[in-house]
Amino acid sequence: MGFCPQCRDDRVLVEIAESLRPSRRRPAAGVLSLADARAAKVARTPIGIDEFDRVIGGGLVPGVGILLGGEPGVGKSTLVLQAAGSLADRGGTVLVASAEESVSQVALRAGRLGISDDSILLSSERDVDALIEVARSALPDLLVVDSIQTVAAREVGGAPGGVAQVRESVARLIHFSKESGVPVILVGHVTKDGGIAGPKLVEHAVDVVLYLEGDPERGLRVLRGLKNRFGATHQVGLFEMGESGLIEVVDPAGLLAAGKRGEMPGSVVFPAVDGTRPLLVEVQALVAAATAPQPRRSVKGIEPARVHQVIAVLERHAGLSFADKDVYVSVVGGIKLRDPGADLPVALALASSLLGEAVGSLAAWGEVGLTGEIRAVAHGEHRALEAKRLGLGRVIGPVGGGGNDRILAALASAGLLGDAEWDLGD
Ligand code: TYD
Ligand code: MG
Repeated sequence: MGFCPQCRDDRVLVEIAESLRPSRRRPAAGVLSLADARAAKVARTPIGIDEFDRVIGGGLVPGVGILLGGEPGVGKSTLVLQAAGSLADRGGTVLVASAEESVSQVALRAGRLGISDDSILLSSERDVDALIEVARSALPDLLVVDSIQTVAAREVGGAPGGVAQVRESVARLIHFSKESGVPVILVGHVTKDGGIAGPKLVEHAVDVVLYLEGDPERGLRVLRGLKNRFGATHQVGLFEMGESGLIEVVDPAGLLAAGKRGEMPGSVVFPAVDGTRPLLVEVQALVAAATAPQPRRSVKGIEPARVHQVIAVLERHAGLSFADKDVYVSVVGGIKLRDPGADLPVALALASSLLGEAVGSLAAWGEVGLTGEIRAVAHGEHRALEAKRLGLGRVIGPVGGGGNDRILAALASAGLLGDAEWDLGD
């Protein structure tokens, strides 16, 4: 056009001469070729808690920003303090900024966890710039901020924990981490309903996003990797909350309550695979006469839409009716499953409860399709082996990848409808 369409000025547009374009040959200062960058290997410092290290990809990388989210009371503060203790045991220095609790409260908790180390420094600084100054002079091997909702930047408006404050505090902490090379773990609370106010807001700003999940009333805790710029995502670490903190669960076999293996109607064992590790969980369903004109559908630990779909498939393709029934489905232990293979165990648990028949000692997995087919999901062999290793008598899962297996056949094989045989055998 030759002039600015808004101000009509023809002097604001400047032509860039061809020669000013960056050359494609000469890398500018601060730019590395891929080969050079690959040669400069990153050093990983293991924290020393295997279940934690696996989820973050093997250890801390210089300047890594890690977000640890979770509901209040799930054990985030406990986990980071234990991580600090472990790193200190290995000769590292850790600065724990805990504005959420007083320094003496943290010290008390550390005592309970058996952590007493001069190389753990405590601060209750709430001003993010002052905190960064402290960290800059201490230059620890790890900085823990518990939590991002309690620190604030002075010139930014709004209450600590508010959108503006969280965003700005995280940005400054991550900037410090990148320029100094000090790894940071930022703890963030998530509210019961999925919570956007904190962690979700800053996931893009950090390199690694971890969530700690579990039923606060029970022992099991799942540390889940949702994002990792330095390693594989979707890894999980398992812990049990005990009297003296979180204990690593190395072999999850014991998590499945004995005597609960499909002996009651509505209970089915599911070999879930989270990340690379199989984890046997119990899926429970209760189908009861509806108590209101609009039947209840209550789902815990699985995406409700999946359960609704499974119910529809059972109604259409297996002739079962849930129309006048209340339905409850849950995964025992407060675990949240994202594994699509949960469909079939949910279907079997629902049918088992509806018919009042226990399925016995078996494990099942598979994705249930809308036409009643059962589709293969990843790690079939892995699941079968784990079920077998833990002494389950039979496994029911999709045989091939062809999607020819049917929901009716699966129900029959579990002894719920008809008497056809349909299992993988060996
Ligand atoms: P906490 O780490 O404070 O949770 P968060 O920081 O996520 O809010 O831990 C909360 C619960 O863990 C608390 O209710 C008490 C329990 N707990 C134990 O059972 N054993 C322990 O050794 C510790 C330190 C805590
Ligand atoms: Mg806490």
